[in-house]
Amino acid sequence: MSPGKIERTLAIIKPDSVAKGVAGQIITRIEQGGLRILAARLVHMSPEDAAGFYIVHTDKPFYRSLCAFMTQGPCLPMVLEGENAIQRWRDLMGATDFRKAAPGTIRAEFASSIEANAVHGADSPESAAFEIGYFFSALDIHSR
Ligand code: CMP
Repeated sequence: MSPGKIERTLAIIKPDSVAKGVAGQIITRIEQGGLRILAARLVHMSPEDAAGFYIVHTDKPFYRSLCAFMTQGPCLPMVLEGENAIQRWRDLMGATDFRKAAPGTIRAEFASSIEANAVHGADSPESAAFEIGYFFSALDIHSR
């Protein structure tokens, strides 16, 4: 089989995980899962920051609550790179609803509700490009 495409994706260790002190365990899973971390920083989003990041969810019933949750403390956005990084990171995360997440996935282990679901990942190359640019400039991203 030919090797997969090298992609970049945007991951966030959400405020619930940072507050619980499991960011390190999640980073270990990223590195052991074959993804390289090219950029990372702690960000405490304002309501406007969260609203802009989740703009595609504006019409969803959970939008306001999601924005409040994402601003309750610092989160840890990261740029990840690797073969098929977008899908690979989604596989490591598990399903959005932690009750449906496969055993061994990050959400199965660390999420506590559908909202406080431990981590976020871009769902397409287009969202990855938007989301990476939302948190990082080209100078923040360290290719290796
Ligand atoms: P995330 O992958 O960051 O994308 C949107 C977020 O909305 C999702 O993870 C959850 O944290 C949150 N959310 C809250 N309620 C729901 C819901 N009913 N369905 C999907 N996502 C939800």
